Order: sequence, then structure tokens, then C-alpha cells
Amino acid sequence: MKPSDLVRRAVAAVPAYRLVEETAAVKLNQNESPWDVPPEVKEQIFARLGARPWNRYAQEVPGRVAAKLAELNDWPVEGVVLGSGSNLLLAAVAAAAVREGQAVCAPRPGFALYRLLAGVADARLTAIPFGPDFAYDPKAWCAAMASARPALAFLCTPNNPTGSFMDRDGVRAVAAACPGVLVIDEAYREFAGEDRRDVLGACEHVILSRTFSKAFSAAGIRLGYLLAHPGLAAEIRKLVPPFNIGILTATAAEVLLERRDLFSGRVRELCAERERVQTALGRMAGVRTFPSRANFFLVETPYVAEALAAEMKARGILVRSGGDEELRHMVRVNVGTREENDRFLAVIGELMGGRP
Ligand SMILES: Cc1ncc(COP(=O)(O)O)c(C=O)c1O
Repeated sequence: MKPSDLVRRAVAAVPAYRLVEETAAVKLNQNESPWDVPPEVKEQIFARLGARPWNRYAQEVPGRVAAKLAELNDWPVEGVVLGSGSNLLLAAVAAAAVREGQAVCAPRPGFALYRLLAGVADARLTAIPFGPDFAYDPKAWCAAMASARPALAFLCTPNNPTGSFMDRDGVRAVAAACPGVLVIDEAYREFAGEDRRDVLGACEHVILSRTFSKAFSAAGIRLGYLLAHPGLAAEIRKLVPPFNIGILTATAAEVLLERRDLFSGRVRELCAERERVQTALGRMAGVRTFPSRANFFLVETPYVAEALAAEMKARGILVRSGGDEELRHMVRVNVGTREENDRFLAVIGELMGGRP
């Protein structure tokens, strides 16, 4: 018997999430923060960690983090679900909400995990296209809600990899039309300057998904959280293993939340850099970028994406290629530090000089 015979057919049929470990002087390929958590903040975390018992299952500290997130979002703590990364929580939602043969809706191009989760659930994935320049098209979304009748829809705003943002009226219309659970994936919400907390109160089927991996410079600590109506949160929590947030993650998150002003300053800096880099790219012949409200954006060139990524890698810069067919000539590029961005602009300028 093959290992794949030991798992459900749908699981065996799904390609694994593509994880390539790459390093380079300038890393602009994983939507991370270019800055680490500052040493003095880490020291504060270590000191607090040292004073806490490690031999006990952690309940109190994750509970305090959940309570703080509830307070910051003016939402009951019973409606906050913590998980070691928002991707684990998205998996829990899919496992809770979707049965074999049902429909799952997601944007295309979109985050690869949505397709994987739909595949594992043996669901039908309805990919919803964007309008011109990857602008969200709420009408197309409402039409898809009506025709596909999804058990679950992932509305990612700002969207990975396009940076597209759906405005409040659009999201409200989609929420009203969605017959199943609507997950609004807000992994990049800080860079958009607004979020959809306002939709939550009126909609018992809406879940907001958030993470510490991007604006909080903390992809390595693995913390994500959901905001949902307490009743729905209680159902999702059944699929999140108990004690999945340990004392290390929870203590780090506790301190990061206390120091959140530091991170909002970083977000402002990255947004200003995003505008600067995109403006500079807009002046380059043969290069096109698309409006983005995230800490990354798509860049279109005459190069096939993989070829451009390889040329950039050879010059010490990692960008993201690969994905849906419509991205054949596009790479996704993070906003980095000013120096990293200048290096990126210099290299792409050089490559466009000898373009194919
Ligand atoms: C749209 C989106 N959602 C969720 C995640 C997962 O974030 P994490 O598991 O680090 O919280 C990512 C990561 O890149 C993402 O792009």
C-alpha cells in the first residue's frame, strides 16, 4: 500500500503548498516585514518569559492576549480565536464549514492556501476574477455568491498577490449575498489603513482573519487570530487543538501589543515607500505596476516571471514568481527598506535596459 492510499483521495490529489527556502541579500518574496523586532523589545519578551513557568500548559497568557485583542477591537473575547498562524485558522474554518462537493469561492489570482483547503475538503473551487488592473469587482462577487452558493468564501482584502482592496460597500454587498461563511482575510489590513471590523457586528456568518506575521514584524512567532460571532467562534474553536498557542508565542504577542505604536510607524514608512517605488517603476518603459493597498505589489514586464525572478536572484534579490496563468509576466515584490528598494529599482532598471 502506498502512503497516498492511507489518506483520503482528495488529500492525495492536492499538490502540497510550495515552500522554497531561499536566501539572498535582499529578500522581497514572502510579504514579511523587512525589519526584525528591535533588540530592546526582544529583551523585554525574554525577561517576561524567564519569569513565567514553562512546565504548565499555558492558558492564562494566551487568554490575556485574546482579551487584549478583544479590547482593541471592541469585540467580545468569546469571539476571538487564536491560532499558531492565521493559515492554521483558515484550515480550521474550512474543516468546520465545508462538506465534500460544496462550493468554496476565492479570488483569482489569490492566496494558494485557499485552493489547497478547498481541494482537501473535496469541494468545488469557484475562482472569482478581477476587473481591469486587478480591481475588485463586487458585482462579480455577488453574482458568484448567487450562482455557486458557497459554503465558504475567502475574500482577501488587501488581496495577496494583487494588493487589490474591496471598499466597505462592496464587502457589505458580498456579505449580504454570501449564503455560507464569509472569511475576510485581513492579513495585510494595516497597510490599507482601514479594516472591515464594521461589517462584523451585523453579520453572524462573517469572520475576520488577522495575523502578527506582517505589520507586527513577527512571522516567526506564529500568531494569527479570528474575530467572529461568539457562537461561530465556539464552533471553529473545536477544530483548533487545545493549547496550540504556547507561552513563547503568547508572551511575545503580549509585549508586541504593548509596543504597537512602534509597528504603526513602520507601516507608515512602508506605505510611503510603496508609493515611491511604484512611482519610479511607472516611469520605466516596458514596466507596469498595479494599485496596491498591501506591503507588496505586482510588477509586469516583458520577461516571463520565472526568468525575471532568476535574473534578479542572480543579482541578490528575491521576488516571487509562479502562480496563476494570468501572472505569466508578473512578479510579486515586497516593499523593503529604502536601501533594499533602491537596489531593487537599480536592478530592474538594468534588466529592462537589456530586456527580451
Ligand atoms: C492572504 C494571506 N492570508 C494568510 C496568510 C498566512 O499568514 P500566517 O499564517 O503567517 O498568519 C498569508 C501569508 O502570507 C497571506 O498572504
